[in-house]
Amino acid sequence: MKPLVIFGAGSIGCYIGGRLAASGTAVHLVGRPALGETLDEHGIQTSDHLGGRWHARRDQFRYASDVSDDFPATDVVLVCVKSAATAEAGAALADVLAPGTLVISFQNGLHNAEVLAQALPHCEVLTGMVPFNVVNQGQGHFHQGSQGQLEVQQATAIARIGAAFDAAGLTLQQHPDMAAVLWSKLILNLNNPINALAGIPLKTELSQRSYRRALALAQIETLRLLEQANIATAKIIALPTPWLPHALSVPDWLFRILGGKMLAIDPQARSSMWEDLERGRRTEIDWINGEVVRLAESLGQQAPVNRMLIQLIREAEQGGRRDWSGDELLAVLRCAATAAP
Ligand SMILES: NC(=O)c1ccc[n+]([C@@H]2O[C@H](COP(=O)([O-])OP(=O)(O)OC[C@H]3O[C@@H](n4cnc5c(N)ncnc54)[C@H](OP(=O)(O)O)[C@@H]3O)[C@@H](O)[C@H]2O)c1
Repeated sequence: MKPLVIFGAGSIGCYIGGRLAASGTAVHLVGRPALGETLDEHGIQTSDHLGGRWHARRDQFRYASDVSDDFPATDVVLVCVKSAATAEAGAALADVLAPGTLVISFQNGLHNAEVLAQALPHCEVLTGMVPFNVVNQGQGHFHQGSQGQLEVQQATAIARIGAAFDAAGLTLQQHPDMAAVLWSKLILNLNNPINALAGIPLKTELSQRSYRRALALAQIETLRLLEQANIATAKIIALPTPWLPHALSVPDWLFRILGGKMLAIDPQARSSMWEDLERGRRTEIDWINGEVVRLAESLGQQAPVNRMLIQLIREAEQGGRRDWSGDELLAVLRCAATAAP
């Protein structure tokens, strides 16, 4: 069997790749040399919030730092880089993939699969969506901290990999309208900048009503724009997407009852935007809140709440504050919303 390639060995790439390799799928990871050295020593250990644990020994996967290094003949590539690196990933893969290769973007944001399809016109590029949070805990250990099932654009080509994902316990849910799925994921991801600015674990943040209200403001603004643009949302968690801001705004005691599943997160899990700031890397803010601002502009409208979150993350990228209390953040976002003409 030809190896399945994971381009972008990070939290998501190593989690999915590690689970697939541990269950017997041939996997070839492309990632940075430093991580390769860690995996040489430890293999890939994966675990989830339900207590599951898996281990892919070093002889169960291959690892290279670029596509010129022993790249295998392959039928399937999963792209798991951050959005800023998508164009570069597409350019690197263009020279080495055979016509008809199935390429799936397992990334946040709305347009990564389009960027890949432009670079790889000879491949079948599909959109995927990862609903759960994964944290790199070091020493080759990648932990899924929240629930959810991988979603992928409906296509006959998925039959090529369905059995391997089933065997790994990562069943792929096919969806006919990935635009709706990606917008709905983006609405959940509006919490990423809030979590990064709060500087505390997701569970602690979401347990506090003021942070949830700040998130609800950004979501309400986005949902209004989607309605005006006639863009549908999909139900990707227990609640329909348009209900989210209402559910988030209830008092803490009620949220503990109603939002129990949203709080079913590991106590230490944080957003990947927090991780990016922590490591001094560029965040995905332009591909999350930036999409809301661009949608507003296309409708001749404004998105002041999302614009303010972009500004605060830009400041944090330059060393600015990352210890906002919920009340402070809520006040700044409310002020931005009311100041907009
Ligand atoms: N982490 C989560 O919980 C989570 C959940 C759902 C969705 N997502 C989405 O999934 C995508 C991947 O996220 P992630 O958290 O897994 O990112 P990540 O941990 O940063 O992993 C991506 C890895 O790919 C490497 N890389 C980038 N370009 C490369 C190249 N040309 N050659 C070799 N390696 C390269 C990066 O290295 P450098 O950092 O050095 O560039 C990084 O180590 C993002 O769109 C994210 O929003 C993440």
